[in-house]
Amino acid sequence: MCLNIFKNGLEKKFLSYAKSDIKTIALPEAEFSGLIIKSAEYCTKKNIANIVLIGDEQKIKNTFLQANFAKMTFINPKTYEKTDDLARKLYEIRKFKGLLLKEAKELILNPIYFATMLLEEGIVDGVVGGAATTSANMLKPALQIIKTEEGIKRASSSFIMLSKKSLKLGDKGVFVLGDCALNVNPNAEELVDIAIATAKTAKELAKLDVRLAMLSYSTHGSGNGESVDKVKLATKLLKQKEPEMIIEGELQADSALVAKVARVKVKNNAWKGNANVLIFPDLNSGNISSKLMKIVGKMKAIGPIMQGLNKPVNDLSRGASLKEIVLTIAITSLQASNLSEQERIEKLKQEKLEKKLFKKQKKERRQQVKLEVEEEVVVDKVPETTAETTPEVTKILETIEVTEVSSKVEKPVKNKKQKEEQK
Ligand SMILES: CC(C)(COP(=O)(O)OP(=O)(O)OC[C@H]1O[C@@H](n2cnc3c(N)ncnc32)[C@H](O)[C@@H]1OP(=O)(O)O)[C@@H](O)C(=O)NCCC(=O)NCCS
Repeated sequence: MCLNIFKNGLEKKFLSYAKSDIKTIALPEAEFSGLIIKSAEYCTKKNIANIVLIGDEQKIKNTFLQANFAKMTFINPKTYEKTDDLARKLYEIRKFKGLLLKEAKELILNPIYFATMLLEEGIVDGVVGGAATTSANMLKPALQIIKTEEGIKRASSSFIMLSKKSLKLGDKGVFVLGDCALNVNPNAEELVDIAIATAKTAKELAKLDVRLAMLSYSTHGSGNGESVDKVKLATKLLKQKEPEMIIEGELQADSALVAKVARVKVKNNAWKGNANVLIFPDLNSGNISSKLMKIVGKMKAIGPIMQGLNKPVNDLSRGASLKEIVLTIAITSLQASNLSEQERIEKLKQEKLEKKLFKKQKKERRQQVKLEVEEEVVVDKVPETTAETTPEVTKILETIEVTEVSSKVEKPVKNKKQKEEQK
């Protein structure tokens, strides 16, 4: 179960970084998904996150008999002492949309609304779900309750794509796509929000120096139409908002990714055709492209990663594997953390040193105990095993006793002369 299933460098980094600042993640589908439970086991065993399972503890335990629930917390919306309070707060947040208190009290029993309210109230640090429900069911509570971070009107999502290094795409095969999962037909302003949030994910999670392409079926006026105009306007607005960022648009995918094509088609010589962040004009193009890259291009996709929300909530695909769920939990923890990369590295180094020191001290302690026991054996005062004696000492004592006894056994007589001498 706890085999190391993560081989890719970036994936391993996400897991070890999550361990450097352990966050509490709520899983609202604990009653319905065995894979969610397995992922929770993996995360607690490997110290990736503290896990809160939403649901009836007994029901969950009876359903997933093989699971080890050690170190997990259960919160049942039906019996939790703060449920009424959460319902009232939900009502306060949504009454402007006509939600009644009576309705809020019913809605709070929905595990996704409940988990989202736990997040809103700071009782957990992140929510991961969607393995057993649609994206709309999973994300609506977050959009309604958590809302977007300052300066961003539209929440969106991105995929971190991992291609073969030999393809020479992005940075060492890593690039980031947005939005492939949430906004159906964003306008120019919303595309700007998507681009800014995707660039942030690329910088903070994928550690890329962003070179961002605003995609279209047109390169610098080679085609025209409403959606081309939209991307042109979005590119202009984005450049105004982010003057330091490397941004080019509107670009076809080949002008964005292939240096040779860029040299011919792109009017701006500064653009080298080496984008590592791709922004799609709508959900059709984004979603279809990401799936084709996975299936035809045999690339790995990490995500969708929700971005632009005030607090992290992430949606899983219904076909998500154990590995994808664990990664999403780790990424959600990273999004919830305020540590800089440097602080994380320092913390991990410190923990490694402490572990080493602890191991050394343990070894020294064992050595010391062994010496003390040997001394006592020498003076023929083997102490009786007491209740306080640790298993290690008991083992040492046993081996020493055996050695003692065997050394006292007389050696067999070897020859006639010795036999006579003995007589
Ligand atoms: C996520 C989704 C369900 C939201 O649906 P919607 O019809 O916009 O939802 P609503 O109109 O009821 O909006 C609910 C709230 O969320 C807000 N909202 C919706 N999309 C938002 C976004 N991208 N960013 C921020 N807020 C958003 C709305 O403003 C509204 O807020 P309010 O009620 O406080 O005024 C919808 O965008 C969707 O279905 N997206 C496609 C998901 C999908 O199928 N993906 C492909 C597979 S991965």
